[in-house]
Amino acid sequence: MKARYRLAIFASGGGSNASCIINYFKSHNRIEIVLVVSNNSSAGVLTMAKSNHISTKVITRSALNDQDSTLSLLATHDVDFIILAGFLLLMPPYLVAKYTSKIINIHPSLLPKYGGKGMYGHFVHEAVKNAGDKESGCTIHLVNEHFDEGEILKQVSCEILPSDTPTQIGESVLKLEHAHYAPTIEEYIMSW
Ligand code: GRF
Repeated sequence: MKARYRLAIFASGGGSNASCIINYFKSHNRIEIVLVVSNNSSAGVLTMAKSNHISTKVITRSALNDQDSTLSLLATHDVDFIILAGFLLLMPPYLVAKYTSKIINIHPSLLPKYGGKGMYGHFVHEAVKNAGDKESGCTIHLVNEHFDEGEILKQVSCEILPSDTPTQIGESVLKLEHAHYAPTIEEYIMSW
């Protein structure tokens, strides 16, 4: 057990989960967000990170796949855990091996339903709607070399009304994500 754990957040898009996580751990006594990494130079979370004095790094897919440069980035910031928050690139095998059971992701469905390559954002909620499911939710899980297949840490569900559109389903699920992702990360890391 370490006295303090240092986390890097990887995010590609809107960054609402990343923002919630940054806020949640702002004055935590044992968990600190030390780095935000994005493959999208206009990701909103980069601005938020900077205003919270958190280091940021924009990387390309090939930089992510370059073992030496990514591991040296993480080592420079002494990163213990990696948190994926809407990060669309697949974690390369060397990173999964180095951070085994130390990479956490959130997915906007009740896995194993609607997971895998190409299942993200509205594609997920449209599939849920087309299947006529009566519930959806989010899954917080450990990351392995395959999209959305690592050990599940927590699932939370919400009801879907027949009149709900895919957009409305997505909004309900995102509320769950914001409420549960950071506390689940905290609980998991504090159990190490
Ligand atoms: C979330 O729905 C999350 O489950 C998925 O990507 C989305 C990211 O949303 N992995 P945001 O960028 O955090 O707003």
